Amino acid sequence: MIDHASLTRINSETVTRKTLEEITAPVSSHLKEFRTFFKETIRSDVFLLDQIIGYLLRQKGKELRPTLVFMCANLFGGINTRSHIAATMIELLHTATLIHDDVVDDANSRRGLVSINKIWNNKAGVLLGDFLLSKGLLIALENEEHQLLKVQSKAVQKMSEGELRQLKTAGLYNMTEERYYQIISEKTASLIATCCECGAISATDDKDMHALMYEIGMNIGIAFQIRDDLFDYGIYDIGKPTRNDIQERKVTLPLIKAMEHSSKKESARIRALMKKRKKKDREIEEIVQFVHSTGGMDYAKEIMYNYANKAIEALEKVPQSPHTQSFVDLIHFIITRRK
Ligand code: IPE
Ligand code: IPE
Ligand code: MG
Ligand code: MG
Repeated sequence: MIDHASLTRINSETVTRKTLEEITAPVSSHLKEFRTFFKETIRSDVFLLDQIIGYLLRQKGKELRPTLVFMCANLFGGINTRSHIAATMIELLHTATLIHDDVVDDANSRRGLVSINKIWNNKAGVLLGDFLLSKGLLIALENEEHQLLKVQSKAVQKMSEGELRQLKTAGLYNMTEERYYQIISEKTASLIATCCECGAISATDDKDMHALMYEIGMNIGIAFQIRDDLFDYGIYDIGKPTRNDIQERKVTLPLIKAMEHSSKKESARIRALMKKRKKKDREIEEIVQFVHSTGGMDYAKEIMYNYANKAIEALEKVPQSPHTQSFVDLIHFIITRRK
């Protein structure tokens, strides 16, 4: 049985850094099967579509969402056909929202390659996203998966609301820490929560566990997006643009925290820079420097750890299984990942 010590709180010193490959080893055969099914699902006879899909399949994501579905199913009755349907539906949905998001953000790279909106154009991106969404709906209908469709449709609604809310909040004037959490809960954490919920749904009928796994996933998802927002101010090659949030006037936690801990004069200067629609490289670097030197990165990291710890603590309420440790390891990975 599991060593309960694995459910202790973590911080930047005690966090473990296993590779994703090591962590996902127990579900690797399922991930392989998932990949094959995913590829088959998105084939198309339309020439242009098939061309873009070929390119899409060369972009390798981390497959965190299917992994979460499988690992959560494992916490209960184990992985089955429903877990596979859920994993495929969710990855289709996720991929569609990434393609749409790159149109919205005018991003030029994704998963280490040029983004689809830049190789083709925005129109192709919008249409391909729609195509992938329709495939997810069809899989649900073909398998009469009402419940999965219901919970995932709620996630789609939340994600769209979050992206729209964020669009309206560009610039510093109406951004608050509270609003930031609302946006990231909607645009990112709602889907991660749904992964955990769907994993549980596929493996147990216990509704309390479905709700609990959703809540755990919510906390993981918030930590996940904070990690992602830290990347924008970082120095790593993450396979997608950095500094894009700053250029696009997107205010995220590191900046919010830095502003909170700066003088009036300093924050007025940063506000003015942030407001500019076309920022020069050196202006962007000034904002980055400000965030680092004012402790914005450290504050945001601390909050990220708090959310990860909330998820780990809530796992106490889930019956312990030999699979609990992998799930905890995955949480550790999510907050230490380099891409
Ligand atoms: C990127 O998600 C989108 C966000 C919610 C920040 P991932 O980092 O999981 O993307 P892939 O699938 O691995 O590319
Ligand atoms: C990702 O939003 C969340 C989605 C709903 C797709 P971001 O714009 O913050 O994520 P990246 O950095 O492009 O992956
Ligand atoms: Mg984006
Ligand atoms: Mg975006």
